[in-house]
Amino acid sequence: MKTKSVYHLGLSKKDIESAKFVFLPGDPARVEKIAKSFDSQSKFLIQKREYCSYLGKINNVPILVTSTGIGGASTSIAVDELSQLGIKTFLRVGTTGAISPKIEIGDVIITTGSVRLDGVSNHYAPIEYPAVSCYEVIDALVKSSIKSKIKFHVGITASSATFYPGQERYDSYSKYVIRNFQGSNLEWEKLNVLNYEMESATLLTMASAFGLKAGCITGVVNKRVKSEKITKKHLEMGEKNVIEVAIEAMKILIKN
Ligand code: URA
Repeated sequence: MKTKSVYHLGLSKKDIESAKFVFLPGDPARVEKIAKSFDSQSKFLIQKREYCSYLGKINNVPILVTSTGIGGASTSIAVDELSQLGIKTFLRVGTTGAISPKIEIGDVIITTGSVRLDGVSNHYAPIEYPAVSCYEVIDALVKSSIKSKIKFHVGITASSATFYPGQERYDSYSKYVIRNFQGSNLEWEKLNVLNYEMESATLLTMASAFGLKAGCITGVVNKRVKSEKITKKHLEMGEKNVIEVAIEAMKILIKN
């Protein structure tokens, strides 16, 4: 019997073997890396636009890996359609720019809650509604970071709709940041916001509003202000560490 496929991801419940857990990287190229890291037998399912999916197993439990693409709009489609398919636990595995000077490249950041600068999550819940991670997912990420001996930080993430002005970057085409965002790096630092990324506010708001579980871990690939450029070496360091911790955390989550 053929089961119905969701429109953008091109997946059905049958394709995903009724998986209840998903890893969510932003980058489609990171999907295979994650899937092969936890299951060398994992299989490619489909790629449509920015959405690439692989299915593998941890201890015989089916685990999906699906890319969200960059930013809130594409993330909202992935999260909505995965929820329609029966996914109950979402773990974002991303990269990030550190705001807090105490954070180093290669460290990982476990998001407790996100500043909703995504411009998308307000289509799912009013702006007063918090974008918070599920405590079980935070707990699993902390335990797995300790086990992996990778330096980690737990706290608030600024989740921006844009990479350039919303993260107060001046190395853009216009070299100009509108007044609304001028000084935002310092302001977030003073408010103890740890880092920037672009998908967690959408994911965390939607999952809470749907009564589902979600969390976010990101690997630091640059220190904002100090080193604006993201080098290949730094990207690889951040990616390697975040994948290792996320897989260990998933092993804990599937046991709960
Ligand atoms: N992702 C972001 O959104 N910002 C960074 O600086 C690095 C990764």
